[in-house]
Amino acid sequence: MTYKEKIDKSKLPSHIAVIMDGNGRWAKQKGNQRIFGHRNGVTAVRETVEAAAELALSFLTLYAFSTENWQRPQIEVDALMSLLVSSLHDETPTLMKNNIRLTAIGDTSALSADVNKELQATIDKTAKNTGLNLVLALNYSGRWEIIRAARCIQADAAAGKLKQAMSENVFAEYLTTRNMPDPELLIRTSGEYRISNFLLWQLAYTELYFTPTLWPDFRKEDFFKAIVDFQQRERRFGKTSEQLEQYESSQNQ
Ligand code: IPE
Ligand code: IPE
Ligand code: MG
Repeated sequence: MTYKEKIDKSKLPSHIAVIMDGNGRWAKQKGNQRIFGHRNGVTAVRETVEAAAELALSFLTLYAFSTENWQRPQIEVDALMSLLVSSLHDETPTLMKNNIRLTAIGDTSALSADVNKELQATIDKTAKNTGLNLVLALNYSGRWEIIRAARCIQADAAAGKLKQAMSENVFAEYLTTRNMPDPELLIRTSGEYRISNFLLWQLAYTELYFTPTLWPDFRKEDFFKAIVDFQQRERRFGKTSEQLEQYESSQNQ
């Protein structure tokens, strides 16, 4: 039985977030430059997006470039940006074919004009698609997002536009992920056990899944395997196991 067949279609997460990690190590293992790993990571992106679309998930968020990644050697940053431009260009027809809508979170204003032009073109072209929402985290960091929200709240308060008392719901409206559910599942590849400044607010109760597989080797079945693992977990949200069982049995009566 494949992992895809093992998935319970009635209990799918609506939002999966992925930290795509391990491109550099994958290339090094093969005696190649880091950029070779990034190029091969594009296949894993395609597989993951297709897998999410096949399951009719609502949201897939991919961490593609963090605010910290600017600190990498300039040659690698440039290569990542040109890879982003060419991938957006080459993959847009596939996004259209699969009814996928692309959006981006992060400080995209700091990306080059070339990147912004291609990104905006794909966002505009796919805007009316109604299937999977593919969200690229570009020049994103969780702390940047929270500070940005705080500044927007400050500005709205000063302008007398903040009518309600602050609450989790009001605060979440100021995040770049407004209108998106929090991820139920976070996948990180390459055997690293950390969040790396990704979706700090939104991951509060997310199930975390770590795999040693390096990103360029990640395929549909790896994605489905993570979902099967997720479906075997008990999400308690602070309650006890017994409380959840009681609730389940009252629902089944
Ligand atoms: C992930 O792979 C890609 C980006 C962060 C852009 P890495 O480039 O971080 O690969 P490792 O972690 O060095 O192996
Ligand atoms: C996290 O990966 C960022 C992305 C996947 C875009 P990194 O490889 O940059 O993370 P750290 O620096 O090792 O934590
Ligand atoms: Mg890394």
